[in-house]
Amino acid sequence: MKKLSLLSFLLVFSMLLAACGTNDQNNGSDEGASEEKKTLRVVTDAAYAPFEYMDGDKIVGFDVDFVNAVAKEAGYEVEIVHVGWEPVFVELEDKIADFAVSAITINDERKESYDFSHAYFLSTNKILVPEGSDIKSAADLKDKKVAVQNGTTGQEAIESVLGQNNPNIKKFENTVLAIMELKGGGADAVVADNTVVEEYAKNNPDDKFVVVEDADAFAAEYYGLMFPKDSELTAEINEAINAIYENGTYAEIYKEWFGSEPDLEDLKA
Ligand code: ARG
Repeated sequence: MKKLSLLSFLLVFSMLLAACGTNDQNNGSDEGASEEKKTLRVVTDAAYAPFEYMDGDKIVGFDVDFVNAVAKEAGYEVEIVHVGWEPVFVELEDKIADFAVSAITINDERKESYDFSHAYFLSTNKILVPEGSDIKSAADLKDKKVAVQNGTTGQEAIESVLGQNNPNIKKFENTVLAIMELKGGGADAVVADNTVVEEYAKNNPDDKFVVVEDADAFAAEYYGLMFPKDSELTAEINEAINAIYENGTYAEIYKEWFGSEPDLEDLKA
């Protein structure tokens, strides 16, 4: 009887030891793995809610959650840094940043100087105007003062209607400043990505702005992560994007921010 209990005690004791041993090993290898992870420098212009914006001293938004999920999938740590819109392009050209996330539209002109990931968001330019405005289409913007963020597809969109170098196009360093110009009466409209102007109008009812759509004048666009030309990271990040499309993580993040299901088939096409 005594012998048996001593035996079972030893058995349990040795099992415990073994368990501790395995635990130690696990902790050890976890630490090893995180030490190997490289921290990527990801640059953005955090004045573009709901994609990237400052909440106190924190950068938050759909793009931030998307990049964090992609990086986790690919086995990288990321540091997302607010540098401003034009510096985003400079950092990639100078290969200072590893990549950029900034609701950046994939287009042929940019593809000449940068590489892009797979598309991750469908967008189009729309027109933000005061309630009661007589602007009902892009053509109505003729002879109106239009505020845009400098160097965006919003600028290109309005130039296609008003012509390049039209003095009625007022260009600003970021979209918040363009909207402030509209608010202050220095512009009759803002042209920017639909989600951004729609969110602004919804979240700032006191400003009494409405959004005008003109799908004939302004084409559909897709956002991508932007890389220095020939970056080796692009393929790895693309694989991670595909993975979070497949495993439901992308849809979860999308639903959190936009309250609906993403059209994954369209993005993958
Ligand atoms: N999608 C537009 C473009 O690529 C505007 C992006 C502006 N992004 C920002 N974070 N300010 O030109």
